[in-house]
Amino acid sequence: PIEERIDLLMKQMTLEEKVGQMNQYNGFWEVTGPVPKEGNAELKYKHLRDGWVGSMLSVRGVKEVKAVQKIAVEETRLGIPLIIGFDVIHGYKTLSPIPLAEAASWDMEAIKKSAQVAADEASAVGINWTFGPNVDVSHDARWGRVMEGAGEDAYLGSKVAIARVTGFQGDTRADLAKINTIAACAKHFAAYGFAEAGRDYNTVDISNSRLYNEVLPPFHAAAEAGVRTFMNSFNILNGIPATGNSFLQRDILKGKWNFDGFVVSDWASVREMIAHGFAKDGAEATQKAVIAGSDMDMESYLYVVELANLVKSGKVKEALVDDAVRRILRVKFELGLFDDPYKNCDEKREKATIGSKANNAGVLDMAKKSIVLLKNAPSPLGRAGEGILPLQKSGQKIALIGALANDKNSPLGSWRIASDDNTAVSVLEGMQQYKGNQLTFEKGADLTVGKTAFVDELVFNTTDKSGFDAAKKVAASADVVVMVLGEHGFQSGEGRSRTNLDLPGVQQELLEEIYKVNSNIVLVLNNGRPLALPWAATHIPAIVEAWHLGTQTGNAVAQVLYGDYNPSGKLPISFPRNVGQCPIYYNNYSTGRPTNGEGNVFWSHYTDVEKTPQFPFGFGLSYTTFDYKNLKINKTAFAKGESVVVSVDVTNSGNYDGKEVVQLYIHDDAASLARPVKELKGFELINLKKGETKTVTLTLTDKELGFYDNDGNYLVEPGTFKIMVGGSSDKGLESGFELK
Ligand code: IFM
Repeated sequence: PIEERIDLLMKQMTLEEKVGQMNQYNGFWEVTGPVPKEGNAELKYKHLRDGWVGSMLSVRGVKEVKAVQKIAVEETRLGIPLIIGFDVIHGYKTLSPIPLAEAASWDMEAIKKSAQVAADEASAVGINWTFGPNVDVSHDARWGRVMEGAGEDAYLGSKVAIARVTGFQGDTRADLAKINTIAACAKHFAAYGFAEAGRDYNTVDISNSRLYNEVLPPFHAAAEAGVRTFMNSFNILNGIPATGNSFLQRDILKGKWNFDGFVVSDWASVREMIAHGFAKDGAEATQKAVIAGSDMDMESYLYVVELANLVKSGKVKEALVDDAVRRILRVKFELGLFDDPYKNCDEKREKATIGSKANNAGVLDMAKKSIVLLKNAPSPLGRAGEGILPLQKSGQKIALIGALANDKNSPLGSWRIASDDNTAVSVLEGMQQYKGNQLTFEKGADLTVGKTAFVDELVFNTTDKSGFDAAKKVAASADVVVMVLGEHGFQSGEGRSRTNLDLPGVQQELLEEIYKVNSNIVLVLNNGRPLALPWAATHIPAIVEAWHLGTQTGNAVAQVLYGDYNPSGKLPISFPRNVGQCPIYYNNYSTGRPTNGEGNVFWSHYTDVEKTPQFPFGFGLSYTTFDYKNLKINKTAFAKGESVVVSVDVTNSGNYDGKEVVQLYIHDDAASLARPVKELKGFELINLKKGETKTVTLTLTDKELGFYDNDGNYLVEPGTFKIMVGGSSDKGLESGFELK
């Protein structure tokens, strides 16, 4: 009956009211307060009352949502409820780790749970729709928005996309009407993560084969999982802005994939087509965007001005407007907004849900699972043959150094528009829970010394080393030095591209100075992107990748350092040796000269650094060790359509219970289009008790063995394949089979 209800409603709508549904305004101003004089807020109110607004974003809290919804429902002619959108990227107020960190867990249940926590809090404050998940694959650590995605791989990215979409929305479309689910949004469609040189908003020029094989799969997976909305992207793709791109939005998304939800533009991306040089003015930008399938205009303030006239003059067919409105109304009906526009507006629930014990427990669990142990070299401080980690729980003097160790803001990470400042548990606070050791903190140096005139752009301390001596003093007399160094939470995210991947400010110098007085260092990294730390990788005995882990950061880090949680994360993105290697990713293509077969200089390499990454995709250690044996394939030759069943025995051969991500990679030896040297095509996260062995079985079907050509045809070609199974993309047991 939803379609019938839409028909009935649309029959009553004027053209202007239809266009209104396609118009989205920002609601940062407090709608319950006086109308601000600046901007066009008064006009926005008028439009809201006239029924010319279909959605608002970034309205905060039940009181505000109720106020705007009341205007839409009670004061407009047809009383069509608004759909309230918000960037719930890694939680609303109780923050989980940044999405890149969550992807490092390779734990789809945990990621789904984390999205459920976010949906629970967001829906409790009146939000109906999140602008997530970000499913942008990226190969470039310079791009600040790698923190928002699931890393460099389309296969892992697709699994994460499904987990997040179903976490936000529920498993079926009917779940959308529930009180604690919200509509999700797969963004940014498409190829935003391939901005040239990692500079945000920059040109994207990629082959269709890359588009189909590496960019689109997570979007397709999200669509198949039922995601109700898509957001297009700021970039041009091969000359055409995504917002005005019919090939992406009409041919692929709404055509081939049969997507029946709606597409929202990115912020002002309709208007930005003028700056791109793709439209001469606002009218042409509107025309191109609507024809290309951009259903809702986020803050370009163009559809509301131009679209009705374009329809009246015959430049845009009314049928296209009808199609867009139908899609938007469909999602509103599915959310149950017509049955109860205030379904998420319950102050009591808001109070009970935000920051609840259960939500904090949920984000703590996710934070622990997101940590990746990058190095734990054997040390005299560890048990026989083991590294410094886990730390002993008593009788030790621990020096904790680094401004980030005592920071309650930075670990919250980027994209956290509703959270309160300084609400993270710091590493210092987390470590203070363990009382058996003597813990002394010294910051060593400030990380930041202020902000620039731009919103949240930071100025780093590059000169003040006055705290070095005090830090060296506590380090010199400590058994172990824990140093928390890295990027500030607002150093990654939108508009935060970097050309350097080092430790900002004076942190590298601080690290080397401390090393001189005590080399028993555990380096805890905070970052929203891969960093290039060749000196640390060589000299520092233990390195823990702790990203920006959200509200429960300090508790998660402390539990891992003290061994109450055995780290199990694996990198979802390669860490380069230096920035010059970017873009660097594991599933690259072979050159014609991959190795130095001729013994001369003319092979594909760098003369100053190895071509491999410092830490590869899929890599991550544990306090225990895992042995792989008995790799088997059920046959050596298969007919097309038959399943290839791969099994391997994995043994926990170390001293602790632990978890391992068993990864399966394939390589198609020869095909009509060259295929990557390796492609992840299966994985399983297993728990193994100390000494335990498990047989893991992974299956390959046509879905994993084929690829897309440049025209978007999916091909499964006969020939030989290599497989590799292991705990990282860089090594494992190898075998092969033939597809007849
Ligand atoms: O959702 C975001 C998008 O990712 C970047 N531009 C603004 C949107 C709304 O805040």
